[in-house]
Amino acid sequence: MIISKSVEDTIAAGRKIGASARAGDVFALVGDLGAGKTQLVKGIARGLGADAEVTSPTFTLIHEYAGGRLPLYHFDFYRLESKAEVLRLGIDEYLFADGVCVVEWADRFRELMPQSSRWISIRARESGERVIETTAVR
Ligand SMILES: Nc1ncnc2c1ncn2[C@@H]1O[C@H](COP(=O)(O)OP(=O)(O)O)[C@@H](O)[C@H]1O
Ligand SMILES: [Mg+2]
Repeated sequence: MIISKSVEDTIAAGRKIGASARAGDVFALVGDLGAGKTQLVKGIARGLGADAEVTSPTFTLIHEYAGGRLPLYHFDFYRLESKAEVLRLGIDEYLFADGVCVVEWADRFRELMPQSSRWISIRARESGERVIETTAVR
């Protein structure tokens, strides 16, 4: 468990995850709006060596960040309507490939997530600190 007291702490936590990520890794992020999931992804991109701007994909399924040690594919299930829609958009091509995938709101369609996904939750405490922890498969 990591206690993050600032955006920089959260990015640093992501950076460690990215630095040790391997081809095929899938990170499933869980947490409310504003918890810091996208900031964590920014850190993961940095940890992989990509310095692209990181924002959540809103009108497309995916944001792809090249330039790092491995390609990073960033998804956000928040606005997607159904499991069928996500599948139709072709997510499996990425989830079962050799890049690194990170999915915000992965618990919305947890059945779509590979068994080997690593689940990470992030939540805000009343103090504003964030608690980042790896959780058991959900
Ligand atoms: N410790 C922290 N870690 C991450 N974000 C924080 C932290 N403290 C404050 N914030 C703020 O919370 C917001 C998190 O936004 P974002 O990463 O987009 O959340 P999410 O993707 O979970 O909806 C940002 O505005 C950020 O500045
Ligand atoms: Mg987000």
